[in-house]
Amino acid sequence: MGQLEGKVALITGAARGQGRSHALALAREGADIIAVDLCAQAPTVPYPMATPEDLARTVREVEELGRRIIPSQADVRDLAALSAAADAGAAELGRLDIVLANAGISSPAPTLDMDEATWDEMIDINLTGVWKTVKAAVPHIIRGGRGGSVVITSSAAAMITLESLAHYSAAKAGLVGLMRVLAKELAPLSIRVNTVHPSIVATEMVLNEATYRRFRPDLAHPTRADFEAAARRLTRLPIPALEASDVSHAILYLVSEAGRYVTGSTQMIDAGGRL
Ligand SMILES: NC(=O)c1ccc[n+]([C@@H]2O[C@H](COP(=O)([O-])OP(=O)(O)OC[C@H]3O[C@@H](n4cnc5c(N)ncnc54)[C@H](O)[C@@H]3O)[C@@H](O)[C@H]2O)c1
Repeated sequence: MGQLEGKVALITGAARGQGRSHALALAREGADIIAVDLCAQAPTVPYPMATPEDLARTVREVEELGRRIIPSQADVRDLAALSAAADAGAAELGRLDIVLANAGISSPAPTLDMDEATWDEMIDINLTGVWKTVKAAVPHIIRGGRGGSVVITSSAAAMITLESLAHYSAAKAGLVGLMRVLAKELAPLSIRVNTVHPSIVATEMVLNEATYRRFRPDLAHPTRADFEAAARRLTRLPIPALEASDVSHAILYLVSEAGRYVTGSTQMIDAGGRL
């Protein structure tokens, strides 16, 4: 019997990367999944974003585990689309217990050089998009009357500073404020709310040419190995980056019975990088 047998989880950014890893981790523990992703390019993002084929792969892999999954192509900036996805998923799967607000973008630029569209799109997706996700989905947890769990994917960048990430850090730090207030408001209903704060995770958000160049501006054609050598400076444990599954393990703890009295917390997963 899995730890999440009979539960249903809504996950944003579920087409690939950490979101897909979380979907599979929760499905392995018995949860059915409502999978939301934009599956399109955001104009200010300098790396290829997820595609409909990526979301189809998440669907296939969850189904191969014997779990049900309801996919939706929806933008976390679009409250009506998120509500439609949450409503349809909860109706089909019968309930909602867990919300993972994981969708996000990265678009590094020096603070004073950054254009307005880059700032605005970051705040719209990485901060306001999380509020819209909880606004659309959490009422279904409340309606169930059984309590539940919300995990918001923030970042180590909410706690430590990196050049060219002012908009990203501002959004991710803002999520901590959102999480704390929500945790207080929802505690009487036995709904827990926490944030996770990963440092660099080996997903397509960072495994791309634009990131390699940012870490190694001295090289004409930096490779993944060049990037990893530079990224080692950001951790204390001897690794260049986390795997998506490392974040999934932390989330599994937070959403399962093991974390039943954990709420309002900020879980760092940073290989000691902040030390
Ligand atoms: N990769 C890292 O180093 C790292 C570190 C700390 C935190 N994070 C955070 O982890 C989360 C997941 O990122 P990842 O590493 O899996 O990267 P990723 O790019 O592989 O996945 C992000 C997913 O979010 C989706 N998405 C983006 N904008 C969306 C929108 N407007 N509406 C719906 N879906 C949207 C993308 O299509 C993609 O599938 C993000 O919030 C990111 O900021 C990443």
